[in-house]
Amino acid sequence: MPVIKTPVTREEFKVYYALRYKVLREPWGHAKGTEKDDYEAISEHFMAVDEKTGEVLGVIKLYEKAPGVGHVSHMAVSIAHQHKGIGRFLVEAVEKRARERGFKTLGAMSRVTATAYFEKHGYHVAGIPTPHLGTTHLVWMEKEL
Ligand SMILES: CC(C)(COP(=O)(O)OP(=O)(O)OC[C@H]1O[C@@H](n2cnc3c(N)ncnc32)[C@H](O)[C@@H]1OP(=O)(O)O)[C@@H](O)C(=O)NCCC(=O)NCCS
Repeated sequence: MPVIKTPVTREEFKVYYALRYKVLREPWGHAKGTEKDDYEAISEHFMAVDEKTGEVLGVIKLYEKAPGVGHVSHMAVSIAHQHKGIGRFLVEAVEKRARERGFKTLGAMSRVTATAYFEKHGYHVAGIPTPHLGTTHLVWMEKEL
C-alpha cells in the first residue's frame, strides 16, 4: 500500500531526486543536475512510498505558477512500479493539496508522449509544444479544479 510522504531529511531528498533523474533524465543521457529546476525552493514535494518497505515508488511536485494556478511537474514513477496506479495516486494527492491551497486551475508541462495520460485525468492541452532539453517537447495541459 503506498502512502504519500514529503521528503524532509537530506537522505530523503537524495532518494527523491535520484528517482526523478533515473526516470526523467538518465534514459536520454542528460547530465546530473538537470532533474532540478528553478522552482525547487518554492515547491511542495511529494513521494509515494511503500508503507511496508519504505521504497520510494514515485515522485511529483507542486508550486503556485500564478495566483490561483498550480503547476505540477517532475512526475515520475519508478520503472519497476509503472502501470500499477502509483501515477494516479500521486495525481490525486497533488490535486487534493491544490484544492486545499485554493487553486482554481492545475496544470503541467506534459511531455508530448504523456498527453494521453493527463487527458485521462481530465486535463486538456492549452499551449503550444516547446522543445525541452533537445530530446522531447513539452506542452501546457490544465484542468479546472
Ligand atoms: C507517466 C507515468 C507518470 C504514469 O504513472 P503510472 O503509475 O505508470 O500510471 P498509472 O498506473 O497511474 O496509470 C496507468 C494507465 O496510464 C496509461 N499510461 C501510462 N503512461 C502513459 C503515457 N505516457 N501515455 C498514455 N497513457 C499512459 C497506462 O496505459 C494505463 O492505462 P490503463 O489504466 O487504461 O491500463 C509513469 O509511467 C512515468 O513515470 N513515465 C515516465 C516519465 C513520464 O512520462 N512522466 C510524465 C512526465 S510529463
